[in-house]
Amino acid sequence: MSTIQQFIASNKDRLLAELFDLLRIPSISADPAYQADVHRTAEFVRDRLIAAGADKVEICPTAGYPIVYGEKLIDPTLPTVLVYGHYDVQPAVPIELWDTPPFEPTIRTTPNHPEGAIFARGSADDKGQFYMHVKAFEYMMQSNNLPCNVKFMIEGEEEVGSANLGKFCIENKDRLKADVVLISDTSMIANDTPSIDTGLRGLSYVEVEVTGPNRDLHSGVYGGAIANPINILAKMIASMHDENNHITIPGFYNNVAELTAAERADLNLAPFDLEAYKKDLDIEDVWGEKGYTVLERTGIRPTLDVNGIWGGYIGEGAKTVLPSKAYAKISMRLVPNQTSDEITALFQKHFESIAPKGVRVVVKPHHGGEPVVTPTESIAYKAAAKAMETTFGKKPIPTRGGGSIPIVALFERELGLKSVLMGFGLDSDALHSPNEHYGIVNYLKGIETIPYFFSNFAELSKSN
Ligand code: BES
Ligand code: MN
Ligand code: MN
Repeated sequence: MSTIQQFIASNKDRLLAELFDLLRIPSISADPAYQADVHRTAEFVRDRLIAAGADKVEICPTAGYPIVYGEKLIDPTLPTVLVYGHYDVQPAVPIELWDTPPFEPTIRTTPNHPEGAIFARGSADDKGQFYMHVKAFEYMMQSNNLPCNVKFMIEGEEEVGSANLGKFCIENKDRLKADVVLISDTSMIANDTPSIDTGLRGLSYVEVEVTGPNRDLHSGVYGGAIANPINILAKMIASMHDENNHITIPGFYNNVAELTAAERADLNLAPFDLEAYKKDLDIEDVWGEKGYTVLERTGIRPTLDVNGIWGGYIGEGAKTVLPSKAYAKISMRLVPNQTSDEITALFQKHFESIAPKGVRVVVKPHHGGEPVVTPTESIAYKAAAKAMETTFGKKPIPTRGGGSIPIVALFERELGLKSVLMGFGLDSDALHSPNEHYGIVNYLKGIETIPYFFSNFAELSKSN
């Protein structure tokens, strides 16, 4: 029986080659042009799960993209781990900003990855991360070393809001029975500073449309006499932060869970190098809500940001036109105990109330998601922390992730399952951006760590 370290050493090239094959399929869930590729990716995941030794592997259709399910149930008296991940990826646009094509994986070094990183869309989010679980499972099967039952649920719509996964969970409660959900779809602080996210922010996402005159107008003939929807939209957006960068929507902070001074102090114990942070982003200073550190601003405080804004003439040269319409997409990151419905409603009411008479506004809500906090006292968290301590040589630090995985709150609500967010990426891996990458070290460390999680979890469950 070989060890996981031997398995990785003797299979390294293959472990990378298989991930490269997965990364070559452009499974962009947001763009219908890639529909066939998304389905092809589900088939790839199914085939790899079967090859690794899973039973009852199935591509489960939904109203959108399918969910790949597979399981290995070895003993009903042993605990069951439900592994969740997503095989869809974000669009690769703007393509011209990639140094190498997004779906032709290549290896290059970066300051945070001196030993090389895999550059490709989805490398860190989440193909490289969920595939570690498939390979760790393969090892545990091969070495006759699977200490728990395991179920895999890998979806294809996470990047577009997981609209169909909730229904699948509710309709498959029995099949999904487990003791914990294990997810690798978040970041660590650094390769020499392992950490585990103990919370995710929620999301409220809206699109706004501001209409002024009933048609585009000559900006000289009419300019100055009527409300220009782009000017108005810009002003409305700017007014939603005050001089302390506090959000001005009435009631926005009403339900925000405030941390105690001790909890805040704890959160800020995590190493954070402000100078390196600024240097990495090429900015002279950070920005944010007065009275909070960067870690607090991204971890425990809600936000409001424009993700896209458009309208009017954006072609070559100058066209003097006063547009009829202006648009923006706005995201609000939520923290406990805000809810996306409540915040979307508050936004809508406020946005309508600050619109001057010369324009009409429409607020269209998009998908949302609820914030979560995951326990650090659970057996599963301890199993993860101990596993990372074994492979990194350091106890992981509990931190709060700024991103969202909306389905995690639903796992808790509908399946009664807590999650462990054992992610191996870095925030600097350019998720959703051009030149996304995932460290080779991170990929292999993940594969190495996961079997320890399983054995720790089985062990700790026994004594409980
Ligand atoms: N894996 C990310 C979420 C994430 C990244 C959490 C890093 C913590 C640290 C996930 O794929 C994602 O991008 N989620 C979206 C939300 C979704 C509804 C589109 C997000 O956070 O914008
Ligand atoms: Mn993800
Ligand atoms: Mn993502």
